[in-house]
Amino acid sequence: MNVSIGCDHGGIVLKPACIEALEELGIAYTDEGTFTTESVDYPDYAEAVCKKVVSGEADKGILLCGTGIGISIAANKIKGIRCAHVTDEFCAQMAVEHNNANVIAMGGRITSPEQAKAFVKKFFTSEFAGGRHQRRIDKITALERE
Ligand code: RB5
Repeated sequence: MNVSIGCDHGGIVLKPACIEALEELGIAYTDEGTFTTESVDYPDYAEAVCKKVVSGEADKGILLCGTGIGISIAANKIKGIRCAHVTDEFCAQMAVEHNNANVIAMGGRITSPEQAKAFVKKFFTSEFAGGRHQRRIDKITALERE
């Protein structure tokens, strides 16, 4: 398992907690930035992370912005990305079990580092349930071709 993580200035506050969660789970990661609190554009970081995921260079991604909304919208424009904007542990679990999400997005202005750590742990220890959920994922993939 290899994870790509990226954020803008609004999400950077959560990055250390996310990395701590990955390290505790023994998951390798690459950090695509940003590395300072200077204002940047979140689509650039969504693109950097999601291109690694769709190319197979990374298995999954973590994206962080102020709310988690903008960066998840940007991520979901990229074919093959199922990015879940997560605000609680249940959603982190369902995003994987039902939606087979390959990217988790969170917001540094709405989620605490402690919560983010718990969401990341839940996301990376949950498993896709398959079955009827696979049929629905296939329908999402079909929408990408329209
Ligand atoms: C940046 O100020 C902010 O708009 C961004 O981090 C994010 O919240 C967008 O959805």
